[in-house]
Amino acid sequence: MATMLDVVMTTHTIFAALWTGGTLLVAGAVLPAARRELLGEKALALIGRRFSYLTIASVLLLLFTGGHLAGTLYTVETLQSTGRGHLVLTMVGLWLLLPLVLYGGFRQLTGLPPEKSVATAASEARPWFLIASIISIALLIVAGLL
Ligand code: HEM
Repeated sequence: MATMLDVVMTTHTIFAALWTGGTLLVAGAVLPAARRELLGEKALALIGRRFSYLTIASVLLLLFTGGHLAGTLYTVETLQSTGRGHLVLTMVGLWLLLPLVLYGGFRQLTGLPPEKSVATAASEARPWFLIASIISIALLIVAGLL
């Protein structure tokens, strides 16, 4: 019988995978296609909008489930004085950074002025999504070390 902690950890891990996987897919497939004008403005805006919904849901659900996990498995003392505690605090720091960097990228993909091409928008979003990809991989490494 699954315990409450099992359900919370599973939800936490599912949204961790969806969010980081989505970030890597946008950086590794969507933007390269857009930079080659293989994706239209409407398609790019739809992908950008849907991914921002996933980002909002992930930020909130990872906070709630992560907060529950931290409150159950750690104390303020063990968060600050153990190796695992430091990994969790690193996870929180990266969780704070990732949506900020993604927001920088989203802004380039939606609401394009008429004179800006899809390829230009994708090229301007690229550095943001490359940094977001590095943060995502760092998050998965931290999670793997836990
Ligand atoms: C406020 C933000 C977050 C908090 C407070 C938090 C907290 C935690 C805690 C306390 C654990 C359990 C650690 C243990 O077993 O000792 C955990 C596990 C995990 N976290 Fe987070 N987390 C946060 C954000 C994230 C993010 C953004 C990711 C994205 C990759 C993530 C991925 C994971 C994964 C995959 C595990 C499972 C590790 C395992 O298999 O044991 N977390 N998190």
